[in-house]
Amino acid sequence: MAAKVDMDKVVSLCKRRGFIFPSSEIYGGLASCWDYGPMGVELKRNVRDAWWRTIVHERDDVVGLDTSIMMHPGVWAASGHIDSFTDPLVECKSCHLRWRADQIENQRCPKCGGELTEPRMFNLMFKTFMGPVEEGASTIYLRPETAQGIFVNFENVITTSRKKLPLGIAQIGKSFRNEITPGNFIFRTREFEHMELEYFVKPGTDEKWLDYWVKERFDWYTELGIKKENLRLREHGKDELAHYARACFDIEYLFPMGWSELEGIANRGDFDLVQHAKASGRELVYYDAEASERYVPYVIEPSAGVDRSVLAFLIDAYDEEEVEGEKRTVVHLHTSLAPIKVAVLPLSRNEKLTPLAKDVHKQLCSSFVTDYDDSQSIGRRYRRQDEIGTPFCVTVDFESLEDKQVTIRDRDSLAQIRVPVAELNKALEAKLKGETFDASPLWATREK
Ligand code: GAP
Repeated sequence: MAAKVDMDKVVSLCKRRGFIFPSSEIYGGLASCWDYGPMGVELKRNVRDAWWRTIVHERDDVVGLDTSIMMHPGVWAASGHIDSFTDPLVECKSCHLRWRADQIENQRCPKCGGELTEPRMFNLMFKTFMGPVEEGASTIYLRPETAQGIFVNFENVITTSRKKLPLGIAQIGKSFRNEITPGNFIFRTREFEHMELEYFVKPGTDEKWLDYWVKERFDWYTELGIKKENLRLREHGKDELAHYARACFDIEYLFPMGWSELEGIANRGDFDLVQHAKASGRELVYYDAEASERYVPYVIEPSAGVDRSVLAFLIDAYDEEEVEGEKRTVVHLHTSLAPIKVAVLPLSRNEKLTPLAKDVHKQLCSSFVTDYDDSQSIGRRYRRQDEIGTPFCVTVDFESLEDKQVTIRDRDSLAQIRVPVAELNKALEAKLKGETFDASPLWATREK
């Protein structure tokens, strides 16, 4: 089953409306690298903020961390990434394209049908050199996950945060993987952003916490607007578990290319802390003072991608509908994710309307991310705001000059209400929270 939205349509909207551009485009682009434009940067930020709010700020059992991308190479030896973070690579003997052996169906080149080489294990970590000498001893890696920065700081965080287990440590940051087959727009890229939580628990309680986090993370996506029917859970078979995992569930989304991983929630057991303790010689244990016990905690890890979430939110919100005989493309993003919350649109660029419209913009922009647009026809400006997902447009018209009222237009229902400029912030605040705003007798209501 494929999603009802074509990837091409989403890619084209992203380019047209300033969400996402090909990286280094004037040089012909760089494979699988993308730049976030003015709308994309706001959307991406809102996704990160929504995750951080739910995972860190709204809980008292999770703290945040921001660790460096480059780490001591010993970290990657201990974590198993040097030996095991590999994919099987095959090359076509005719056209020389390279493929992941485990993603090929009939063992012939998917492009030209040519014969393939025997698979060899290809390490996905990017290597570079630290300092001026390019030699083996100065080789370091760009991190392929943010998780290891958390594990190597476990002791620092436990001793400084004065918190008891279960305790989570959360981090958002860039990761790098030299993927053999990146693609599907921002779904699989070589540089991407992770949102990872390592939740440290007492062994024996790990299965309960795994179930807990699977549900929490599933609900996070639906609460932010993803339709339930486009999400499903899939448990990993024993043969596909990562080298560190005892169990793992994927939250899958129905992307245009079919059901694919959106987020993984793994039970990493004590693998990482034991490995780092062995390799570093530091004792990485937790002392439970109340029970007078010491143990190595187990870890439950919900690990999501910012970029992949952005893609899922955009695809799910994308819609084409007919309004009064005309096609309208609209992006029904959740209000907390929408790049622009309110657009102030004077009916026309007119010297009488402009001062009031500018005043309204000024009144709103310290409370809401607000756009001001007075170019082209009002219809075209509504279309643009619909395509970037702006939940509310505020229209200033000639009547506004007389009655000091403006019209709020709702992106989804297209309903319009008229409110006094003095009440506008209050009205928008309520509407952005999803509350119904009582356009009571105080305020004249006008349905179009
Ligand atoms: N620390 C565990 C870990 O990294 P993963 O399943 O490899 O687990 C977790 O990655 C999430 O990170 C994925 O579900 C996906 O959202 C995102 N992700 C992984 N590789 C990616 C890539 N090459 N491009 C974009 N996002 C990626």
